[in-house]
Amino acid sequence: MTAWRASLPSPQSQERRAPPDFDRLARLYRWMELVTFGPWLERCRFSFLGDLASCRRALVMGDGDGRFTARLTSLIPLIEVDAVDASSAMLRELLRRAGSGAARVQVHCADARLWQPANPPYDLVATHFFLDCLTGDEVRLLAEKMRSDMLPSALWVVSEFATPEGVFGRWVARPVVWLLYRAFGLLTGLSIRTLPDHAAALRAAGFTLRERRAFLGGLLAAEIWAAL
Ligand SMILES: C[S@@+](CC[C@H](N)C(=O)[O-])C[C@H]1O[C@@H](n2cnc3c(N)ncnc32)[C@H](O)[C@@H]1O
Repeated sequence: MTAWRASLPSPQSQERRAPPDFDRLARLYRWMELVTFGPWLERCRFSFLGDLASCRRALVMGDGDGRFTARLTSLIPLIEVDAVDASSAMLRELLRRAGSGAARVQVHCADARLWQPANPPYDLVATHFFLDCLTGDEVRLLAEKMRSDMLPSALWVVSEFATPEGVFGRWVARPVVWLLYRAFGLLTGLSIRTLPDHAAALRAAGFTLRERRAFLGGLLAAEIWAAL
């Protein structure tokens, strides 16, 4: 924790780039996703759910309208969740979607880069299509902070876009990612324009990749990382 504080960018530089504003997309988000990617993002998000049955304290960052949180709380009756998102409208959707599971979800409307974990230690961290809203340095700082608030046996599940090497990567994945960043830049004010190397950042923070599954020719990836 101390190391993280010491290596944080100055408060001024953090203030310069506010989190994107997803509020007005909150109700449409699921439909936008279905129209553009069909069921594939959902498959990616839920890919490792079967490995999480023993988890009891989860931190879900940037879960947006809460589809992962809802599935997690319905599958694991004893799990308790801290859900952090910068969008209050997304968090309202998340609680609504969680239904009776919402009693085990505490929401925190905050910038995840600055938020201090509420109920550590966690045995699960989940970030689905969220790390791509950060720079590589921010992912590393977040991962360093998180690691000190996770149990040694804890897991981190990640879903992300990817641009694989080769013809598909160059002619399909890269243009799709370019387009997505431009679209979300216009719709939410997101100023990031390239995917962070989240794998390098997690490794630098001490996490170990346990398994990676690729979808849609490698445009999407689901990963499970171990804190040890
Ligand atoms: C692209 S959406 C992904 C939503 C969901 N996880 C999914 O799988 O589709 C990114 C989410 O992260 C949130 N977000 C982006 N930057 C954030 C930040 N710095 N702190 C907290 N939440 C943030 C947004 O409000 C939004 O709900």
